[in-house]
Amino acid sequence: MELTKKQNELYRCFLVEKPKILVAAGAKRAGKTHIFILSFLTHIAQFEGQGLSFIIGGATQASIKRNVLDEMELLLGKELKLSKSNAIEVFGNKVYCFDGANADSWKKARGFTAAGALLNEGTALHDSFVKEVISRCSYNGSRILIDTNPENPVHRVKTDYIDKDGQRLANGRLNIKAFHFSLFDNTFLDPEYVESIVASTPSGMFMDRDIHGLWVSAEGVIYKDFNQSIHFITSVEAETVNFTKYYAGVDWGYEHHGSIVVIGEDDKENAYLLEEHAKQHEEIDYWVDVAKRIKERYGNIFFYCDSARPEHVKRFKRERLKAVNGRKEIVAGIEEVGRSFKRNELFIVEDNVSRFKEEIYMYVWNETTGLPVKQWDDVMDALRYAIYTHNYRKIISGRR
Ligand SMILES: Nc1ncnc2c1ncn2[C@@H]1O[C@H](COP(=O)(O)OP(=O)(O)O)[C@@H](O)[C@H]1O
Ligand SMILES: [Mg+2]
Repeated sequence: MELTKKQNELYRCFLVEKPKILVAAGAKRAGKTHIFILSFLTHIAQFEGQGLSFIIGGATQASIKRNVLDEMELLLGKELKLSKSNAIEVFGNKVYCFDGANADSWKKARGFTAAGALLNEGTALHDSFVKEVISRCSYNGSRILIDTNPENPVHRVKTDYIDKDGQRLANGRLNIKAFHFSLFDNTFLDPEYVESIVASTPSGMFMDRDIHGLWVSAEGVIYKDFNQSIHFITSVEAETVNFTKYYAGVDWGYEHHGSIVVIGEDDKENAYLLEEHAKQHEEIDYWVDVAKRIKERYGNIFFYCDSARPEHVKRFKRERLKAVNGRKEIVAGIEEVGRSFKRNELFIVEDNVSRFKEEIYMYVWNETTGLPVKQWDDVMDALRYAIYTHNYRKIISGRR
């Protein structure tokens, strides 16, 4: 099998230096998981027919399937059937698949004796799960492989493993080795595809992390690619757009502004923020009224809502509004909105917004938490729920 230069370096280290913990950290699509699947299979093959246990950890069973098992099937040339206990049979051994995103996920690995583990997307796993899996790998010759995208530089995956790159055990054996990957390391990707990914990655933190694979903290204004001379249009201009779909985003608020935004989509999948409703100190009756009038103007459209107030979502439903919980993954949602600005696929009807004009420049990262500062975020949240939830299927299936 052909490998990239970086994958070859890593594989050589895996075979020759045999570090106990090997980390591949860096950009998305850089070829990290691919080389780890190969390494993991090489490792399991050494114990052929011994009926030992191995672990694959990922955020969810679905992400394990998507990121690891599908590609493993291609490499092995056979279908991998999960047993009732979420295990697969590989070279006469059992490989258990554990979802490790939650605070109590570590309990799944408790009591295990494993001869190796592959941990996919390390920063999406709970720290206690990562540590439990490592401590369960007590069989002689066990190896642990962790692939990860970068996050805040204070993340435990970085401070506990990557920053200890080169650490040796008392007997001289290499304990931890870390490799850095950038998108440009994956020479198997079509150059046009790489160019289009770079062109659509939001500037700042997302470019540094997703493309260059760097552990940088989030800082400054969140939507760095917003440019009013490009992204503001007038309502007169909006009248010439051929809209094919409408939907809305809802962020509940009382002391903070409550907010509903209406989005129109055209036949080229560009999105337009057509209406902004943002108000402080209004009760749910007021918002029902706003939403009903939106329904009169645009039809029976989806309202993608903040799920933090289920009673409000229920009330909308009782009022025959098509309200559903929006997807709330903050950083992923921001990345999608940022990508839409970067690609000039999201426009704002300037004369229909006021709060937006302030928030877009006041919406900033909290450098310590790596999340937005919870201020000047009300219209931003409604916009994010709308855009991210609407595009979610396309994003997950790689069509965006
Ligand atoms: N050596 C290789 N040969 C062929 N295709 C590869 C190779 N390495 C990676 N790829 C492909 O590139 C894409 C991204 O690789 P992947 O390992 O999933 O990246 P990452 O885990 O860094 O996000 C996948 O479609 C994968 O199959
Ligand atoms: Mg991967």
